[in-house]
Amino acid sequence: MTHLFTPLTIKNMTLKNRIVMPPMCMYSATEEGMATDFHVIHYASRAVGQIGFIVVEATAIEPEGRITTHDLGVWDDEHVKGLKWITKQIHANDAKACLQIAHAGRKSRATDRPKAPSEIGFEGYPTPSALTVDEIKEIIEKYRQAARRAKEANFDCIEIHAAHGYLIHEFVSPLSNTRTDQYGGTQVNRNRFLYEVIEAIRSEWPLELPLALRISAEDYIKEGLHPALWAEIINGIPHGYVDIIHVSSGGLVKVPIDDYPGYQLMFAKKIRKETHQIVIAGGLIEDPVMANGVLESEEADLIFFGRLALRDPYFPLKFAQRMRYDLTWPVQYEKSKK
Ligand SMILES: Cc1cc2nc3c(=O)[nH]c(=O)nc-3n(C[C@H](O)[C@H](O)[C@H](O)COP(=O)(O)O)c2cc1C
Repeated sequence: MTHLFTPLTIKNMTLKNRIVMPPMCMYSATEEGMATDFHVIHYASRAVGQIGFIVVEATAIEPEGRITTHDLGVWDDEHVKGLKWITKQIHANDAKACLQIAHAGRKSRATDRPKAPSEIGFEGYPTPSALTVDEIKEIIEKYRQAARRAKEANFDCIEIHAAHGYLIHEFVSPLSNTRTDQYGGTQVNRNRFLYEVIEAIRSEWPLELPLALRISAEDYIKEGLHPALWAEIINGIPHGYVDIIHVSSGGLVKVPIDDYPGYQLMFAKKIRKETHQIVIAGGLIEDPVMANGVLESEEADLIFFGRLALRDPYFPLKFAQRMRYDLTWPVQYEKSKK
C-alpha cells in the first residue's frame, strides 16, 4: 500500500518519499532578486528534515512580475549562482529541487504599473495596464529564458505558477480576462497564454525532465474556474509536456474560503481522475494518518505540507516515528533517533 515514505519516479526524477514542501515566498531576496544565506539555510534544513520534494518559492521571470521587491528572481543570468547554491544543498541532503517560476500580473506590488490581460484590478490593488500582443510575446520569451536558467542552476523540476490569481491564472479566467484578440474572448483563447508558456519552457526544458503546473482548481465564485474546466484545460496540453499537477485554490478574487484540514482534496481528486496526471494535494494537512489515507485511497500521489514545514523543518522524522516507519535519519542526528 502506498504511504508517505513510498518512493515515486516521475520521468528521470525519483523522489524518495511523497512529502512535498510547497512553494512559499520568503520575501528575503535582495532587491536585485538574488538568493541570500537565509534561502540556503531555509531550504537545506527542510532537506535535512527529509522532505523529498522541495518546491522553491515563487521566483519572478521579470522584475515587474514580482509580488514584492524582495522576491527571488530568475530574470537574469546573475541569478543562477545563488539558485545553484540552493539546489546543491538540497541535493547534498538527498532531496529533489523544483523551481516555481512566476509572474504576479495585476497582483504585483513591485511596480506602479502592474501588467495584466485586461484593465481589471484586484481588490485593493492599482488598475493594471492591459498587455499588448508584443508584450505578451516578450513575457513568454522570459519564461523560456527562466527555464534555461533553472536548468543551469541544476533544478530537477520546474513548476509553472498558474495559481492564486497571478498572471497565468488571470489569462485563463474569464473574471480577469476580457480581451477580444487571440488571447481572450473564448476559453480556447484564454488558455493560449498558458499553452504558449508551456511550449516556450519545453523548448529549453527537455521532455525527459518533469514539469509541474500549479493551479487554483477552484475560484470559489460561480462565474470563475472550477476543477472540471481545469481538467479540460490540462487535457489540452500536448501529451508528456506537463507531468505533475499541484492543486491549490483561490486567489483570483477576494472571497471568503472555508478552509479546514483537507479542504482542497476534493479538487485534487477530481483533477487526478479526469486528467490521469500525477497530483500533489494538500491544504491544512498536518497529520500523517490523514495524508496516508489520501495516498492509499489514490486521491493524490504526493502530499504538500506548507505551514507545517515552516514551523518544523524536521516534521518528516516525527511522522516516521508516529507511523513506526524505520526511516534512515541524517547520519549527524542518528544518536537522537528514538
Ligand atoms: C508564507 C507563505 C508563502 C506562500 N507563497 C507561495 C508561493 O510562493 N507560491 C505558491 O504557489 N503558493 C504559496 N503559498 C501557498 C502554499 O504553497 C500552500 O498552498 C498553502 O500554505 C496551503 O498549504 P498549508 O495549509 O499546508 O500551509 C504560500 C503560503 C505561505 C504560508
